[in-house]
Amino acid sequence: MTYKFIRTAVFSVVFLSGLQNVQAEATGKLAEKIQPASNNITLTKEVLEKKYNLIAGKKSYSSAGCAMCHDNAVMGAPRPGDTKSWISRLNNGWDQIVKHSLTDYNGMPAKGGNNTLSEIDIENIDAYLISLVVS
Ligand code: HEC
Repeated sequence: MTYKFIRTAVFSVVFLSGLQNVQAEATGKLAEKIQPASNNITLTKEVLEKKYNLIAGKKSYSSAGCAMCHDNAVMGAPRPGDTKSWISRLNNGWDQIVKHSLTDYNGMPAKGGNNTLSEIDIENIDAYLISLVVS
């Protein structure tokens, strides 16, 4: 009786831990598959250049009013090219950065207060700003 119980217990532990490994592997593979389909793009210069118009973004940054705050770090606005003030934002991912740019975000009004900008314009500017601090 006791022997049988131990044998069952040992079998269960071995079997279940094996099952867990299989599950972890499957979850890992699933994560790999989901990643590229997600809107949350990898933040490298190459990806940003392919997906967005960085030249248009640079122009709009200056002409659309973003520079007024960001060049002077008004209310803690991250300066272009200042890696330190961008790093924690980059860790939140692209989607979050764009969302913050499109909505009111602490000291920054939605779209930097410029409603003539489309979502694509904003994404181009964000991509330009991020391209200055990633490799
Ligand atoms: C009135 C000043 C002001 C203007 C104009 C402005 N920003 Fe900002 N922006 C800020 C401030 C302040 C922050 C930082 C907010 C914080 O982290 O608390 C910020 C943060 C950001 C961030 C980082 C978001 C994140 O997830 O951390 C991006 C991207 C950004 N701004 C883009 C833009 C763009 C694009 C424009 C022009 C269309 C613009 N900003 C215009 C003040 C401004």
